[in-house]
Amino acid sequence: MAAAPHQADLTRAIDDLRRTRAALLALLRPLTAEDFARTRPGAWTIGRVARHLAESDVLYARLLAHQTGNDPGALPDPTPRDGAEAAAMLEATSTAMLGMIEGIDAETLYRIVKVGREEYSPLSVLENVAMHDAEHLAQIRDLLDATARPAVVRSPAAPPLAARIRPATEADLAAINDIYNHYIRETAITFDIEPWTIEERRAWFAKFAPTGRHQLFVAEASAAVVGFACAGQFRTKAAYDTTVETTIYCAPDAAGRGIGRALYARLFESLRDQDVHACVAGITLPNEPSCALHESFGFRRIGVLREVGFKFGRYWDVAWYERPASDQAHRG
Ligand SMILES: CC(C)(COP(=O)(O)OP(=O)(O)OC[C@H]1O[C@@H](n2cnc3c(N)ncnc32)[C@H](O)[C@@H]1OP(=O)(O)O)[C@@H](O)C(=O)NCCC(=O)NCCS
Repeated sequence: MAAAPHQADLTRAIDDLRRTRAALLALLRPLTAEDFARTRPGAWTIGRVARHLAESDVLYARLLAHQTGNDPGALPDPTPRDGAEAAAMLEATSTAMLGMIEGIDAETLYRIVKVGREEYSPLSVLENVAMHDAEHLAQIRDLLDATARPAVVRSPAAPPLAARIRPATEADLAAINDIYNHYIRETAITFDIEPWTIEERRAWFAKFAPTGRHQLFVAEASAAVVGFACAGQFRTKAAYDTTVETTIYCAPDAAGRGIGRALYARLFESLRDQDVHACVAGITLPNEPSCALHESFGFRRIGVLREVGFKFGRYWDVAWYERPASDQAHRG
């Protein structure tokens, strides 16, 4: 039997609200008090948007209480100081709102109440909350993008770092993991969300060898591993075997100091005599240093996959690059 029309309307409104709210909460949660101060000329700060959202939510919850005659319970003080507080507040008001409309009858769901010059039914309140969330989600994303710190800041003062490039050994795995896990936690450069354990890293390492298509090099400076680069399997289907995917990471304080160029120069030199027909690399955008490095080693941008990764509450594009085997031209 088909659901009563009011149930279908209600389910749709709740689904919309849950979806937009989940994206909003994921975006807000990691923001620090410092992020709350981010803005651009003529715009609100992110903190002001978050407070406005929390205040409106409390008003919407009170309105629903008035319309349904239900008790909203204690509503939070809407003055969050960072993303975690803002997310907790919005979660508390969501719970209150969803509690008040649970099991609502058709007559109450569509009953219009005039508030000032506006007219609202409980259904339109739910729809408004989702629209309001979507609007401010876009606003916060814009502010984050407009004020984004580059993944790597090239400091003119950073001197070149002399490093020895050598094949990696098992003793390097903890340092490799530390470098990579930094970029998992802090950036969308990698689409991993959870840091790798050392066991996972060991299993990954087992796939490389000193010769052949799949090789792994580290850069060592002052007895510390400051970067790594590798060529690994692209896809598991056999016809892809002569294609490798390359990856390169430098420790944050070693970036922009010549290590990336030295690592890639050694890796491609080593692959020259192997049965490798093409190299590919995927780069989350924006990442100017990585795009420039790949292009200078003969990679060409093939295309951009739009919004294929969801991390830190938003979608990210990935540019795919290819370096044909015939292309040995690079400045390394
Ligand atoms: C991308 C990365 C590997 C480059 O290595 P690096 O050691 O920083 O680069 P180098 O100092 O050797 O510079 C090599 C080239 O990279 C490019 N590059 C490096 N830093 C750059 C920057 N801040 N802006 C623009 N281009 C930059 C340039 O083309 C440079 O060549 P040039 O010095 O002749 O102009 C490194 O910055 C890094 O680890 N970044 C974070 C992790 C990452 O993005 N990995 C790639 C994932 S796809």
